[in-house]
Amino acid sequence: MLQRWLAGISLILTAITATPLVAVANNELDQAFIGVNGKEDPLKDFVSDITRNKDTTKKEGSDHPRFPVIGDKWAGSFDDGIPESLGYPSWFTSALLARRLLALSSVGVVSTVYPSSDSYRGPPGLEGVPISLPEYFADCPGVLDHEEEGNPIFLGLYVSTTFRNIASGSNVSLAIDWWDQLNKTEPLYPGFPLSPAGLPRVSLLGYVERVDSLIDEDTRRDLETCFLAAHPDAKAWLPGAPNTPHAGFWARMVVTQAFWIGGFGDLAQIGWLNMTEWKGIKQHRSAPEIGDGRGWESVRLPGEGDH
Ligand SMILES: *[C@@H]1O[C@H](CO)[C@@H](O)[C@H](O)[C@H]1NC(C)=O
Ligand SMILES: *[C@@H]1O[C@H](CO)[C@@H](O)[C@H](O)[C@H]1NC(C)=O
Ligand SMILES: *[C@@H]1O[C@H](CO)[C@@H](O)[C@H](O)[C@H]1NC(C)=O
Repeated sequence: MLQRWLAGISLILTAITATPLVAVANNELDQAFIGVNGKEDPLKDFVSDITRNKDTTKKEGSDHPRFPVIGDKWAGSFDDGIPESLGYPSWFTSALLARRLLALSSVGVVSTVYPSSDSYRGPPGLEGVPISLPEYFADCPGVLDHEEEGNPIFLGLYVSTTFRNIASGSNVSLAIDWWDQLNKTEPLYPGFPLSPAGLPRVSLLGYVERVDSLIDEDTRRDLETCFLAAHPDAKAWLPGAPNTPHAGFWARMVVTQAFWIGGFGDLAQIGWLNMTEWKGIKQHRSAPEIGDGRGWESVRLPGEGDH
């Protein structure tokens, strides 16, 4: 009993020392990874594995490296041709729903892989093994790029396993779901219980690049405003904030593929989204050549009610 009680106290103490009130590099992990005086900074040159050899002083341009876009080739490959008039969403409507899900969400599960390389900094024996962790993100359309949307913003922390793996070259998947809205939804079939499995989710695949060196002061302020709107508590560890418990940096995920599970397959599409559409969709209206030109504001997710 006493032992349990003592264990409880030590847990509480651990929790207290991990609160954002501690100053920079006040714990072992931070000291190990950013150095006691912040001098040693193993991630400071990190942009991303893919962009590392590129000129990072340039803004995003047409020469930005691209992954093979399997999304377009595979898009609609599972479409069984049920017309939208019968309530079955088209692939473009599904892409709108997926972009709305991104826009209305601010947390997701990020998977990275412990690298199998000299740069490995994880626990022994986990080289090549994926680890999935919930992370904050924010959809900040137009802040970094007016042409291409759908690339979520992260506030990367040096101490974070996710960002250490990314800095070592890991690609990423970000899974976003709508399951916390279950109580607002209706049963999908008469007499069938409310079912998270019937609600939409998406897995975004791609890579993360650090953007600090690419942005000016105005853009940095816009990023802060956007991110804090989704995560007011992150004010305590904004990049460059004084007395922050963990040093951090701005990063964005470049989404190269998106796998959509709209819900049960007889009611929703399941498969790879068209990435031209994913990147081209905007909130109120998309370009005319993107699907039928609608924006994600024109669709509603389950439980959101009507327009
Ligand atoms: C990341 O994904 C790209 C595209 O599939 C691949 O070429 C690259 O090898 C991957 N990087 C790692 C570290 O696996
Ligand atoms: C959903 O509603 C049920 C019934 O009112 C309740 O028991 C349950 O805790 C709610 N779940 C969530 C996640 O709010
Ligand atoms: C992808 O979307 C674009 C824009 O809507 C469209 O022109 C193209 O045909 C689509 N590709 C496939 C394979 O459906």
